Amino acid sequence: SGDIASRAAALVRDVPDYPTPGVVFKDITPLLGDGPTFAAVIGHLAQQAPEVDLVVGMEARGFILGAPVAVALGVGFVPVRKAGKLPRETLSGAYDLEYGSAVLEVHRDAMAHGARVLVVDDVLATGGTAAATVELLEQAGSKVAALSFLMELSFLEGRSRLADHVVQTLLTY
Ligand code: PRP
Ligand code: HPA
Repeated sequence: SGDIASRAAALVRDVPDYPTPGVVFKDITPLLGDGPTFAAVIGHLAQQAPEVDLVVGMEARGFILGAPVAVALGVGFVPVRKAGKLPRETLSGAYDLEYGSAVLEVHRDAMAHGARVLVVDDVLATGGTAAATVELLEQAGSKVAALSFLMELSFLEGRSRLADHVVQTLLTY
């Protein structure tokens, strides 16, 4: 996986001052656009996953990575969405992220009680998104078996907000 990590890292672009001044945005679209590297990253995330009943991904980039990981594991995918997008009864939670704040929702009946879930997203930054997701999933009675990210921006200390959970990342900045 050292090889996968260096191939992946070579396809992540730094974009200064996006979306706001002072933020150096990590753009993963070149990686997504490279078929063999995208496939290798999905394979890596699936291979290191614990045994789970479901994969949960956060809108929008968590969908891009989470759905193919779910297919690779042969389990279902549950979307955690920004407010107002899910049509039926939801659990919802507000959170802050590196450059703003938002509300996340999940369908209340999406997970069976006691379901073991893997949370997948592209970036662990402040951990606001991931912590809000864990809160929603635990409210729904699920067990978060692990959280898996393509990359971690370690200087933002998102891991400290996920202290009692298994956190896996391919790249660390
Ligand atoms: C980004 C990223 C993570 C989150 C990480 O999503 O995809 O979900 O921010 O930041 P945090 O650890 O500080 O919460 P964003 O909300 O920008 O939405 P998008 O995926 O729709 O672009
Ligand atoms: N890049 C991509 N997504 C992000 C970032 C970033 O730097 N920070 C929070 N989400």
